[in-house]
Amino acid sequence: MTFSATLPTPLRELISERSAVEPFHAMDILARANELVEAGQDVAMLCVGQPAAPAPAPALEAARRALVDGRLGYTDAGGRRELREALSRHYSKTYGVEVAPNRVVVTTGSSAGFALSFLACLDCGARVGIARPGYPAYRNIIRALGMTAVEIETHFEDRHTVTPAMLDKAGPLDALLIASPANPTGTMLTPEALFEIVDWCQANGTQFISDEIYHGLTFPGAPRQATALERSDDAIIVNSFSKYYCMTGWRIGWLILPEKLVRPVERLGQSLYISAPDLSQIAATAALNDKAPALDAVKAQYETNRAMLMKRLPQLGFREIAPGDGAFYIYAKAPARVGDTMEFARTLLDEAKVAITPGLDFDLERGHETVRLSYAGSGAEVSTALDRLKAFLS
Ligand SMILES: Cc1ncc(COP(=O)(O)O)c(C=O)c1O
Repeated sequence: MTFSATLPTPLRELISERSAVEPFHAMDILARANELVEAGQDVAMLCVGQPAAPAPAPALEAARRALVDGRLGYTDAGGRRELREALSRHYSKTYGVEVAPNRVVVTTGSSAGFALSFLACLDCGARVGIARPGYPAYRNIIRALGMTAVEIETHFEDRHTVTPAMLDKAGPLDALLIASPANPTGTMLTPEALFEIVDWCQANGTQFISDEIYHGLTFPGAPRQATALERSDDAIIVNSFSKYYCMTGWRIGWLILPEKLVRPVERLGQSLYISAPDLSQIAATAALNDKAPALDAVKAQYETNRAMLMKRLPQLGFREIAPGDGAFYIYAKAPARVGDTMEFARTLLDEAKVAITPGLDFDLERGHETVRLSYAGSGAEVSTALDRLKAFLS
């Protein structure tokens, strides 16, 4: 029986339609994995999309100083001036594009950045294009805000890329949200392919939103990492300190906005969040201004983990492994004999103590055949997971 069915009728009616979003199956697997860990079991965790490494040392040091020194308060809704200026320099240094600090808005993770962007430029009923497979929160946020997610199905044969030809077939789009590198496929668009999409959006009156959260995490052979801002100042850029900077728990991210959206986002941010956490803003500024060599070591470990998985997964029968140009995921079809991957993920966890994510999180139509493995942990964890998978599958 569902929770809402147990409630008295008047309360049942108070549960909104917009809250009826799909749960994250990855979180259910994680909850079960945590139960096993608490019971003293050793679980190889390849189910969560977060770095095992801590925040960089300069960020931790700055946060320690801030805790000792002083008062943490609200900041401007757009964020601390030093952080906005540091981010503006980051764009000039990394991509050679000039971004005025006032176009930078600091957010509570990129998650808040999506909500603010959608609310600032779209109204209820708007149609937002997203890739399938894709990050599940996109469709859930879009739905919760009373908009329609238009899923654009991508294919292994085309490296899971979205193309202008696919967009032509999708019907009118008020906005298009694309991540490159993408979750769960790791697919990166070449700069030319990205710019073609930006141009398509300009020509069709579609707001382009570029999720660049996995920038910095790209591997040899991947296309050059380009920001949509290299093509147009009209794009909205969503980014975060969660992944490259290993700061998921600090809940800190940023937006780069077209001038016309700065004030609307500021107004919405004042009321929805007041500001991003002051302490996290201080830590993030230090992370940007003083790039820690440890981050290079973290990335090198991902590269080793990725090579290990790319070599051994096909031997275990995993097929159609997505490009994995960047981010820290492998997305693939599970060996045919395992059947439905939701059940496979549950049994693998209970019997072999390996936690992976069933594909249904990312693709409600085809995900029962696929899985996502996150390799953001240690080499030992990935190698243990592979050994256990091998034993389980044989
Ligand atoms: C593609 C993508 N975008 C955004 C996020 C949200 O990240 P955060 O809110 O921590 O910045 C994630 C998290 O996994 C992600 O995979």
